[in-house]
Amino acid sequence: MYSYIINGGKRLNGEIDISGSKNASLPILAASILNKGIVKLYNVPEIEDINVTVKILEHLNCKIKRNKNKLVLDSSQMQLKMIPEELMRKLRSSVILVGSLISRFGKASFSYPGGCDIGSRPIDLHLNSFRKMGIRITENEGRIECSTEEIQSVQIHLDFPSVGATENIILASCLTNGKIITIGNAAREPEIVDLCNFLIKMGVSISGAGTSFIKIIGREDLKDISYNIMPDRIEAGTYLVAGCMTRGNVKLNKVNPEHLKPVLYKLEEAGCIVIVDKNSVTLKMTKRPNKLEIKTLPYPGFPTDMQAIFGSLLMIAKGTSTITENIFENRFKYAGELSRLGARFKQEGNLLIIEGRRRLSGTVVKSTDLRGGAALILAGLCAKGQTQVDDAEYVLRGYDKIDQKLRQLGADIQLQKQ
Ligand code: UD1
Repeated sequence: MYSYIINGGKRLNGEIDISGSKNASLPILAASILNKGIVKLYNVPEIEDINVTVKILEHLNCKIKRNKNKLVLDSSQMQLKMIPEELMRKLRSSVILVGSLISRFGKASFSYPGGCDIGSRPIDLHLNSFRKMGIRITENEGRIECSTEEIQSVQIHLDFPSVGATENIILASCLTNGKIITIGNAAREPEIVDLCNFLIKMGVSISGAGTSFIKIIGREDLKDISYNIMPDRIEAGTYLVAGCMTRGNVKLNKVNPEHLKPVLYKLEEAGCIVIVDKNSVTLKMTKRPNKLEIKTLPYPGFPTDMQAIFGSLLMIAKGTSTITENIFENRFKYAGELSRLGARFKQEGNLLIIEGRRRLSGTVVKSTDLRGGAALILAGLCAKGQTQVDDAEYVLRGYDKIDQKLRQLGADIQLQKQ
């Protein structure tokens, strides 16, 4: 077991580079098997979720060379095999591989996906859409089997703009002979746009990415390409909040400020000074943050992945704040751990009412999920004394060298094996 040991009270100061996006890298890695050839990916973050995805692809005989943030994949010799359950369970987004496998082999077999425990996370929207595309689905002792002779042209309309379902439909639509698949009420997240840009570069015809109506026309042969993954907007948001909570002055390089708009807007409302440049954001904070009202929504609304991070910030804000979580039903677990540091809150269903405290005090806490773990680290950075955040493995799944980057900004934080 790994833990972060933090001695709080240091103002963060300085600049860091933001890594490539986890949530864009994962579907793009899945998409990299579609050309039956070579793909070079740059700016891939060094995180555990990527390590697991690489292991799954290697298990399927995909040859992968990795050098820091560069990945070269050769999927020419790839074979369809059963994906081991323990790997599937480690990563919910492994379900994204299903769309690519159906495109490439006409079938896929998998066990129910895993990932963070932040609610029931069903995959009915993925499976219902697959059925409409002419894919047969059977469930057998916890395994789901998908197969098709040919994907059909179809107009899909999602009940909810699910990120994963939108990506899976796109991936399953790429290797057809001119079939037209449209998605109404599609997710509009920047990571979907990045995936589509990658696929367009490979030769798939896609229009409407970034809007709620996407049209895909598949092709039989796709090209070898190189691609640079977009910056991680959630990682960037996390360091901005860290700067705010420690009353620091931080500059983040290699970001896309456009993707950060909903977060920057709230940080300004909290009292931060935010300076936006073409590929960088600087945040300065000199006082206790103002209270906020936050409601999570699909993009371009406030991201659910930043909810716990802002939850941590509001625990030290002036006055009473509220957070309404509209995307996942079980995403307040971190708040219970924050209360061990002295935070005060009340939960009413999907509403969290937070009474801001002037000061938090360090103690031993446990990560509850990826973003919840990061929220505890941020609380530790501004708490009095020492905070130990256990179950750091959750954080390592999605944050590239978070301890190193925070030390670069002047924090006193170490990752320790217990
Ligand atoms: C992705 C992100 C995750 C982010 C989330 C919402 C990745 C790897 N993960 O997750 O970090 O928090 O988008 O922005 O990109 N739903 C259904 N049925 C389905 C699919 C989803 O009911 O078939 C529900 C979910 O339970 C949830 C909501 O839709 O309540 C949103 O889920 P979705 O957008 O699919 O999230 P993910 O793709 O899992």
